[in-house]
Amino acid sequence: MKFSKKLINQRFLFYKNLPYIKKHPFFSIRNKFANELEALVQVYLSQNLISIGKRFKDLNSSIDDIMKLPNITPGGIVVPKIETQLIYNAIASYCYKSLGDFSKYTKSFAPVTIRVKSGKIKSPDRPYETSKLHSDAWVGMFGDGIISFGIMGDFKNNGVEFFMPNLISADYFGKLSNYDEGINKFKGLKEIGRYKKGFIHLFDNIVLHKTMSKKNSLPRVSIDFGFFLKKKNKASKFFNADIKRYRFDKADVYNECGNKFYYKTFETITQTKLRLINGKKKVKVPRFVKI
Ligand SMILES: [Fe+2]
Repeated sequence: MKFSKKLINQRFLFYKNLPYIKKHPFFSIRNKFANELEALVQVYLSQNLISIGKRFKDLNSSIDDIMKLPNITPGGIVVPKIETQLIYNAIASYCYKSLGDFSKYTKSFAPVTIRVKSGKIKSPDRPYETSKLHSDAWVGMFGDGIISFGIMGDFKNNGVEFFMPNLISADYFGKLSNYDEGINKFKGLKEIGRYKKGFIHLFDNIVLHKTMSKKNSLPRVSIDFGFFLKKKNKASKFFNADIKRYRFDKADVYNECGNKFYYKTFETITQTKLRLINGKKKVKVPRFVKI
């Protein structure tokens, strides 16, 4: 396999004249709506816990209850359900607001995911374990990159580190069956940033990253979503895109969320619990509807 800078340079052109972008297709800036998002995420977690008969006190004391939610994935995503979709829509709307001027350059977004990391060391057995160095392209995320917000908690000890590869292979963008295979897709690494509370991090799919949790680290919550940029240049070739998992909606849907559009789910948290126990057939996929 040949390694080169060609794809890296080609992709950097997409971002070259965009705000906050300097040397790499990456930025980390303070979020003007960090307080609002933190408050909304607290209400979101509270609403989730009410559905299992618990109350949200604070992240550290409620973490064990949060990790027991029926609608939390192995990767820590607290999936929106009927009981929580109202607050979820408010969160999606504030995510868009947070982008400020940058939103002018975006074409579409994948649904916002609210992710809780407990800080307890996980087994590295999962093929897509986030503590392994990876690009989100390797899980089939075929957008241009990810926008990620540090919402609350212990980001110093339970965070994310970002790296820029020096050279990459021609088949860099595509789904792998395990992040471990990614080691053959690049040569050379340089650290370019770390996750921070109250900040917006934007990174192209080229940027590698991994979660890190030190011993005795406390929980944290982040929000992330994939994006496509508006651009004239041709995008890089993508192998094995996971089109079922990542559905993109026009940026305008997010701009008008709660006004003209509403993200609708079709299952309650209790129904989720029963479905997981009984192994019943799948439910309708949540999506934005016109209102
Ligand atoms: Fe990732």
